[in-house]
Amino acid sequence: MQTQAVFQERISAFPAEATAILADITRQEGMLTAEQVSQLKSILDFSTTADLMVKLLPVAAAISVAPVSEFYVGVVTEGVSGNLYFGANIEFLHQPLKVTLHAEQCAVLNAWHKGEKRLVRLVVNEAPCGHCRQFLNELNSADSIEVIVQHASEGVVRQYSMEDLLPKSFGPADLGLTDALMSPEQFDLTLPEEHANDDLVKAAFEAAVNCHAPVCKSPAGVAFRLKSGKIVAGRYASNAAFNPGATAMESAMVNWRLSLLNSVQDDVVEAVMVEQPAKVTQKELAESQLKDYGVELRYISV
Ligand code: THU
Ligand code: ZN
Repeated sequence: MQTQAVFQERISAFPAEATAILADITRQEGMLTAEQVSQLKSILDFSTTADLMVKLLPVAAAISVAPVSEFYVGVVTEGVSGNLYFGANIEFLHQPLKVTLHAEQCAVLNAWHKGEKRLVRLVVNEAPCGHCRQFLNELNSADSIEVIVQHASEGVVRQYSMEDLLPKSFGPADLGLTDALMSPEQFDLTLPEEHANDDLVKAAFEAAVNCHAPVCKSPAGVAFRLKSGKIVAGRYASNAAFNPGATAMESAMVNWRLSLLNSVQDDVVEAVMVEQPAKVTQKELAESQLKDYGVELRYISV
């Protein structure tokens, strides 16, 4: 497993003035503001944000947790705000490979949870797999997003549209959906009065309200309380193609990983899922994923 030390080493490879700004990626849990991006471009003498993003890929890949494959994928994505968001693959020992989070998903989930409305481009150090191409094709920016692939093994950087990466594709429109992932939408849920003062339940509830589940209409959110007292939450990010989407637990795992950039050891001590189970439920899957951490899932149906 890569550690904080690898991250520090990667940012230290930049000129000192840039390293000082890049150190904020940890404090900001996997993001750089538009202002920091323009400072970095001027310090490093890059005329385009895309060039800077390619340069930052080794920093993104240092976020990876890949004890199974030892294959470290890094992604940097730019939102319409001009902010950059980082992501990497996250593998789970003692779990089925199916629950692995890909770097592309991680970066998109990072941007979405931090309030980004739409993505402009996404840069990755290896060719995105089919599952990620589908995941990206389900974004509200699928028709315009630039996907830049470093093709690290070949040493060539190439830019693609989603049409290049996934011609004749299946997407949300095939199910008659107008909202895609990252579209502003909210579920109208009611938090039972008894939980009104429970900050952890409220965080999971907010995540459920803001999740994306237009087909199954079974909104869900998960919130973890960490040992430090900090709360991290995750929203369900479903896909029209179902399987490539991320469960609420997976989103919470992404945000936990990103929060660990800021404090290396911060275990999950409590976990809550708020769900409105309709045609589907994430309860049992989430419980099984939590077992390894010795934490019981508190489940609240709304
Ligand atoms: N991986 C990604 O993160 N993105 C891709 O699209 C290709 C594959 C990760 C998943 C797994 O952790 C490792 O690379 C090997 O497949
Ligand atoms: Zn993938």
